[in-house]
Parts: sequence; structure tokens; C-alpha cells
Amino acid sequence: MHGSEPTSPAKSTRHAPTEAVVVDFSHHSDAFAERPFQVLAELRELAPIAWSTAHDGFWVVTDHQAVIDGLADYERFTSRFGPAIPANPFGTRHIPVGLDPPLHTTYRRVLNSWFSKAEVVRREPELKTLVDEIVQDLAERGSWDFVADLADVVPGAVTLGILGWDRSRRLELLEVMARGLKNAASTDPDVVARNAEGNRWIREQILAEARDRRVNPRADLMTVLSTEPIADGVPMTDEEISDTVVFLLLAGFHTTSGALTALLVQMARQPDLRARLEQDRSLIPDAIEEVIRIFAPITALARRATEDTKLGGVAMKEGDWTLFVNVAANHDPAAFPEPETVDLGRNRAKSVAFGWGIHRCMGLHLARTILRLEVEAVFDLLPGHVIDLAGTRRARHLGIGYFYETVPAHLATA
Ligand code: HEM
Repeated sequence: MHGSEPTSPAKSTRHAPTEAVVVDFSHHSDAFAERPFQVLAELRELAPIAWSTAHDGFWVVTDHQAVIDGLADYERFTSRFGPAIPANPFGTRHIPVGLDPPLHTTYRRVLNSWFSKAEVVRREPELKTLVDEIVQDLAERGSWDFVADLADVVPGAVTLGILGWDRSRRLELLEVMARGLKNAASTDPDVVARNAEGNRWIREQILAEARDRRVNPRADLMTVLSTEPIADGVPMTDEEISDTVVFLLLAGFHTTSGALTALLVQMARQPDLRARLEQDRSLIPDAIEEVIRIFAPITALARRATEDTKLGGVAMKEGDWTLFVNVAANHDPAAFPEPETVDLGRNRAKSVAFGWGIHRCMGLHLARTILRLEVEAVFDLLPGHVIDLAGTRRARHLGIGYFYETVPAHLATA
């Protein structure tokens, strides 16, 4: 398909289904990173569900209704083989995202109370202090990078705080995860080896924390995961602890960071939006939802068909990989008219930015609160700040999500 050639020649080990529209689409390609929304619109126009020959072959679903139908149907589309195509270097059996019911229900129940709306409300004063201190520091410096100095700092610090880890370890963890995600689709043996080493290192750190909590239990999530009976009255195995924590780190660090910078850059491009939000703070939550609908911090969710089946009239075979492109669904004009326009008043009940069905994001209350506090602090403590739009740089690895690598900014007087 025009403009969506994969970065490396696609070799399909599966035969393209005879009646399918066959494309050569890779969400990890440079061509996709350059013009993602146009590529997806062209793809949807060509075939809302097409067979791509990239990454050993998979169905690529860009139609909103089909994305919702597929994600809601965990019996026909399993998460058991991991949520990404190709698998990210941190494994496939992430908990809870790589589990189907009934196991999914059991493990998610353990985590839920730590991320519930009530728990986030309880933590809000502590979160506000953390955010305000970081933003106040930017004000004193006069110039800063919104990615490295704010967006990447807060979510990591908060997730580590909930787990009960030393927050100052945020940077070393972030570095290893960022490298792994950036190179998730690489087949270069050196890169693959470095990713495997990063995965091994992170898992060692997790198990060291778990061993510590068994000796020194504390009031933190790490202690619960390491000591409390979870399924059948027994605590998690080391592997399960590691599969859970590695996913919390992955899910919690990058996504919220990407959402903040997308919103700040959008406000710089659209000063009327910034002025409107500054004057009426009650609109900030709508702006957050709208920006993550357009610039999804998670591009697509992978599943595998558990039986020969049909989706949107297309016949699929048991074992077929299927990529539900949530950002494509959120740009489907049938669901969201003028999809690339920030419309604070639009109906977003069917936005799939946080996923859909049983795996819908468990951290969404936390993410929404962190983002609102960050935007409020930026308005209060960095009034009149200027983003150097020409100096911003977007990450190339859009297959994971829409991220900026740098968003330089300064106070108007600096
Ligand atoms: C703007 C920020 C965020 C976005 C856009 C986002 C998006 C998503 C999406 C799309 C899924 C569905 C995955 C799938 O169906 O395969 C998901 C699941 C999940 N997210 Fe988030 N996420 C965000 C922030 C967070 C945070 C801060 C945390 C926690 C620290 C978190 C924890 C999780 C967990 C644990 C799941 C798996 C839920 C399950 O399998 O039942 N997320 N997220």
C-alpha cells in the first residue's frame, strides 16, 4: 500500500488469505511515522480489515466498530500471546494485560484497589505536591525540556511510589525501557541482544525488591505482590511478580508522558485552545481526552484469533494475529467527525484511547489526575511560557505510541 512500506522487507510465513485485501503495512515503519493519520485513512478506505504481510502476517483493523467488536470479544480474540506485534523485548506474558479470564479477573482484582478512583482521589494532595515542586523548579530555571524535565519525571515517580520503590531509580529504569520500546521491532542481532540484556536486568531489579519485601514487609504494592495469597491461596511466583511489575513500569511511565507533551504542543500550535483552558480550568479533562484520542500514547493492541471466525465480514483463521489499531479507530470519521480537530464538546464515549473491554486501562484515573495536575501547575507556575515548536522532535517509533523526544520551552522573560 502506498506510503506504508515497512522498514525492512516483510517476509510472511503465513499465506495471505485468498479473498483478503493484502497490504504491506507496518506500524513500525518510517513511512508510518512520517504520516500516520494519512496512512491509516488510506488503509481504512482500501479495506477496513486488511491482511498485512509485514511481521510474519497479521490482520490490520482500522474500522472503529470492528476494533470495538474485536477488543470486546476476549473469547474469540485472546491476549494470551501478548499485546504487541512483534512482541516487545520485555516479554509476552505481561500481567494482567496478557491474561484472559478467569486468570485475568483474579490478578486484576489484586491491582485494582491501588489504582481505583477513590485511591487516586486519596493520593491527589501528595501528587499535587510532587507535580508543583517539579514545575516550580522549571520556573526557577527559566528554560527546560518538557519531555525530560516534566513529562518523563512525574509518571515514573508516581508508579515507583505506589510500588514502594526508591523514586530516584526512575531514570535508570526509564532508560532501559525507552531503549527497548524504541527498538521493539528491530531484528539486528546486537540490538536484540541488548534488549534481552535490558529485560534480564529489569527483572533482576524486580526480584531483588520482592526478596526485600518478604523480609521487610511495608505498606506498598510491592509487598502485596511479593507476599499475599493471590490465586488458590498461594502468593505469586517470582515469574508472575516480574511479569506484573514489568508491565506496570511499561504501562505507567511512557503513556502518560506522551499524553502530556502532545497536549502542551497542541496548545502551543493552537493558542486559542490554551487561552480557553487557562480561562476555564474545568475544560482541561476534555482537552486531555481529546488529545489522547488524536495522538494515542498506545497505537495498537494485538490479539490472536482462538477459532476460525469472521470479523466485519472478513474470514479469519484460528491462530491469526490481529492488530486492532486504536488510533485508527479514534480517527474513523464514522465515529468521530473531523477526527483531527480538537473538539472539546464532542461525544467521546466510544474513544478507545484507553482500550476497550476487560483490558481497558487500569491506570486511567491515575493518568487523568496526573495530567490535569501537570497542566494546572504549568498554567499557575509557568504563565506565558513559550514552547520552541521548531525545536520539538517527535520519536520515530510510532508503532508503540505517539511520543516526543524533546519539547524545549522557556519563560517569556528568559
Ligand atoms: C494516558 C495514559 C495511558 C494510556 C493512553 C493508556 C492506555 C492503555 C491501553 C490502550 C490499554 C489496553 C491494553 C490492551 O487492551 O491490550 C491499557 C491497559 C492497561 N494500563 Fe494503561 N494507559 C495509560 C496510563 C496508565 C498508567 C499510568 C498505568 C498504571 C501505572 C496503566 C496501567 C495499565 C494496566 C495495568 C493495563 C492492563 C489492564 C488489563 O489488562 O486489565 N496505564 N492502558
